[in-house]
Amino acid sequence: MPTIETIANLSKKRGFIFPSSEIYGGFASTWDYGPLGVELKNNVKRAWWKSVVQERDDMVGLDGSILMHPQIWVASGHVENFNDPLVDCRKCKGRFRADAMESLSCPEGGEHDLTEPRQFNMMFRSHYGPVASDDNIVYFRPETAQAIFVNFDNVLTTSRKKLPFGIAQIGKAFRNEITPGNFIFRTREFEQMEIEYFVRPGTDEEWHERWLNAREQWFFDLGLRRENLRRYEHPQAKLSHYSKRTVDLLYRFFPERTDEDRQFDELEGIANRTDFDLAQHAAATGKDLTWFDPETNEHVKPYVIEPSVGVDRSVLAFLLDAYVEEPVRDKKRTVLKLHRDLAPIKVAVLPLLKNRPEIVELAKRIAADLRKRFVTVYDDTAGIGRLYRRQDEIGTLFCVTVDVQCADPGDEKYDGCVTIRARDSMEQTRVKSDGLVAFLRERLED
Ligand code: GAP
Repeated sequence: MPTIETIANLSKKRGFIFPSSEIYGGFASTWDYGPLGVELKNNVKRAWWKSVVQERDDMVGLDGSILMHPQIWVASGHVENFNDPLVDCRKCKGRFRADAMESLSCPEGGEHDLTEPRQFNMMFRSHYGPVASDDNIVYFRPETAQAIFVNFDNVLTTSRKKLPFGIAQIGKAFRNEITPGNFIFRTREFEQMEIEYFVRPGTDEEWHERWLNAREQWFFDLGLRRENLRRYEHPQAKLSHYSKRTVDLLYRFFPERTDEDRQFDELEGIANRTDFDLAQHAAATGKDLTWFDPETNEHVKPYVIEPSVGVDRSVLAFLLDAYVEEPVRDKKRTVLKLHRDLAPIKVAVLPLLKNRPEIVELAKRIAADLRKRFVTVYDDTAGIGRLYRRQDEIGTLFCVTVDVQCADPGDEKYDGCVTIRARDSMEQTRVKSDGLVAFLRERLED
């Protein structure tokens, strides 16, 4: 398996992910998604939304604002509890998370000389409006979840859903992490895909299991290898302030570590949040955040199952899992074997000879036609071998090569066929150019 560093290098070289603010010397642990990265990231989000919203009749979507009433974060417990223990080294001036120190050795020699841990609240704050004062503090949301809880009643009354039902949301979250790092694994600005699934108390444990299985299966369906995904049960003593039970899906983000357990880290958390959040917001606002069951004439206080996954960590896991270096004859090829729904580019159209105008013209026409249906690129900036290697490295599913046999009716070998090369098998098939769309549709859509 590749390391995160290999993926970061490939990402920079091929235009998936760049260090942010690079021409200003960079800005620690911030990243920009480039032309291929934004396609991949959108495909991940689209696949998630399709699976958890569009293919289910018990789920609806929401897109809440990032800035919300500051009292929400008091009621949710984040103002009081969303802390990490921070320590400083008096010798090297380094700053660390006390509960996640990898080593005690100090770059200034010997061991770190650490201060007592102090609680550091990870929420980013600003001031709402032109005057900065304690009366208008606003928080950048550290999770998207709270926008769902405070809209529970709006969604319930407008969508007329009954328990069990869920609300899904994708959006940015911000955490002033003490030790961000490992490329896009831990950053201060990131994106989450979260579900709050409301159930009757008493059915929560069963629904927790169901969501665990469903979310794990989603990763497998999109190609993650089983041996690279694990479950981790949080010990009771370490649960978040709102959780009755949390199980994480861990991915093998750090294959280079010798201790196998340390190779795995959190990809997704699936928590049973009980009725904590709705009860807190009901108490803070005086609003009724229950569901009225017309059959029993009872007000039910729903429990919540929350599958919460990072978009960026999902992108990283899919890239790590897809990266393969394999021998081809006496050479090595690097290929990203991304699932067809995730691959940023589906088809590349490549002219075999760029000094033959009839080949170039036909290849450009074919690319323009395919672009209406599939994400397609045209490339004539190198010889065919290099072009194939480049497309393999970014995970393009099919390369369509146009040669003289296809483009020149006067050529004695003219057959009107293009060559289609499949990424994974490298198998080449000759297909009539007017049958190309049907050939690709069958493989990309069906
Ligand atoms: N609403 C629950 C919640 O936010 P979490 O475990 O703190 O739970 C959920 O976060 C997911 O968000 C994580 O599993 C991870 O994929 C992603 N995530 C959390 N902090 C992150 C960070 N600093 N950088 C990138 N992704 C992060």
